[in-house]
Amino acid sequence: GKSGYDHYMLKEIHEQPTALRQCLRGRVDELEGDISLESLADLEQSGPVQFVACGTSYHAALYGAALCREHGVRATASIASEYTTDRVPVDEDTLVVGVTQSGETADTLRALREASRAGGRTLAVTNTVGSSITRVCDHALYIRAGPEIGVAATKTFASQQLALTLLAASLSNTSSHREIESLRAVPDQVQTVLDTSQAKAIAEEFVNADAFFFIGRGLAYPVALEGALKFKEITYEHAEGFAAGELKHGPLALVTKDTPVFAIVTGDGKRARKTISNIKEVEARDAPVIVVTDGESEAERYADHVLEIPATDERGATVLANVQLQLVSYWVANLLGRSIDKPRNLAKSVTVE
Ligand code: F6R
Repeated sequence: GKSGYDHYMLKEIHEQPTALRQCLRGRVDELEGDISLESLADLEQSGPVQFVACGTSYHAALYGAALCREHGVRATASIASEYTTDRVPVDEDTLVVGVTQSGETADTLRALREASRAGGRTLAVTNTVGSSITRVCDHALYIRAGPEIGVAATKTFASQQLALTLLAASLSNTSSHREIESLRAVPDQVQTVLDTSQAKAIAEEFVNADAFFFIGRGLAYPVALEGALKFKEITYEHAEGFAAGELKHGPLALVTKDTPVFAIVTGDGKRARKTISNIKEVEARDAPVIVVTDGESEAERYADHVLEIPATDERGATVLANVQLQLVSYWVANLLGRSIDKPRNLAKSVTVE
């Protein structure tokens, strides 16, 4: 059942600290500064890594590829239904990673089958033991999120983020004590976000807006895309996610005083400073700006509202920022009386191409 929550989606959002602890259990060793992924012990990877997925899992794939590149591993992400429209771009050095929580998505299965047939090595990153993808792929990495009933993926995305963080560290054989320490802090920090979020008040303020925009750069870019996808899926309102730097190349024409912009700002380095410039661009068009950031960021000075997250590194921050955006979507959908657990026209598992 829903354990007292009005919707499975809200229950599953609140299950994230537990889901994330399960994802990490036995896989990180703080003392040794090690990450070990049981199922990948015999996977030596030196060639390129290609992530393939659909929908929310594609956003996780973008996130995983960006993380790999930060670790010095060549990596790309593709939408599964576009992956094999030309020739299958693999050789025997390529690792193709299918990211799919259900393990049954037809487009993803097809892409992985073709990659395998073309001689690539294959890895499934999935929530579902014994699912079709695990039979197609050479290896499997389980995200261990537990069952998800709501059609909108919530805790499975967070668990994908964490599992792919472990994968990137493991493929590159690099993980520092600091990284592991901040990884292990994430479940408790998600709990802090759940306990303190002002997302409901933000939802009340902006529920009648014309459209909703989400921006981020670096690891926050796929989270901006995910924020917008979740939003359109359950609120039926117009929402778009953009790389923060792309606004001025077109989308800025849509920005008005009636289009709130959610800006994810992580860290206080170069990336954050650039995103702050992008925030100034939308402020100049009178758009309300809601900044998702930690308390130390100077981005708060340019915000009309702040959705605060605990201070951590960029990886952790992008997990926490996503939780804030899940809650905004949930509360806007709730205020509009939408069918949150079963949005119109959508299915939990898409088994047709
Ligand atoms: C959105 C959502 C979908 C799925 C997509 C892929 O909330 O759930 O976009 O992410 O259909 O599903 P899986 O991960 O099962 O391959």
